[in-house]
Amino acid sequence: MHLVVPSQEHLDSYVEALRLGWSPSTEHDISGEVLAEIEADAVGFLAGADDRDPAGRTVSLPDGSVVPRLPGFARWMWDGEFCGSINLRWRAGTPDLPPHCLGHIGYSVVPWKQRRGYATQALREMLPLAREVGLPYVEIVTDPDNIGSQRVIEGNGGLLVERFDKGPVYGSAEGLLFRVALD
Ligand SMILES: CC(C)(COP(=O)(O)OP(=O)(O)OC[C@H]1O[C@@H](n2cnc3c(N)ncnc32)[C@H](O)[C@@H]1OP(=O)(O)O)[C@@H](O)C(=O)NCCC(=O)NCCS
Repeated sequence: MHLVVPSQEHLDSYVEALRLGWSPSTEHDISGEVLAEIEADAVGFLAGADDRDPAGRTVSLPDGSVVPRLPGFARWMWDGEFCGSINLRWRAGTPDLPPHCLGHIGYSVVPWKQRRGYATQALREMLPLAREVGLPYVEIVTDPDNIGSQRVIEGNGGLLVERFDKGPVYGSAEGLLFRVALD
């Protein structure tokens, strides 16, 4: 498995995963809207996967609220087929994130390729890219019962910072905040 920059040659396999019900967001199922977006403008969709200057663009949260998009980019896990995605988002000049943004890095592996070490490897390969954009550490949020994700973070040197309330946007559910130092 290796990380690839999302591009046209990977798109059919990505679409297939969406059609099988995989969702790139772990907070809510957005597979349908992403499929519609690709159908309407595949080139624009791929361009948006590397969006370091999202001036004026927005993103919808699980409660329906709409907030400014942060600079960010995605990489896709690829082993000859699409395996999952990992993305990084940040605010220029600071490691701080707005309260609605749950961590700098999110990832998701398609169910049929889980437990092969892909997420652990993807996070390992993403950390130097986070350092390149100037972050001294990355924060990652998981649900308390998401043991797999916690192992992925701990396998990359992440430490638990706190258990916290994710806020009304996320149904005031509990989250675990981890931090991975980037030195
Ligand atoms: C969590 C997730 C990303 C893990 O991906 P993965 O590629 O299967 O993870 P890995 O194969 O790298 O596994 C890492 C470790 O977690 C363990 N693990 C993975 N899934 C697990 C599970 N469901 N229950 C318990 N342990 C699990 C693995 O055995 C491995 O343990 P080890 O380090 O002791 O060998 C994947 O299950 C997923 O995409 N889930 C849905 C989306 C999600 O929860 N994303 C994370 C949001 S913070």
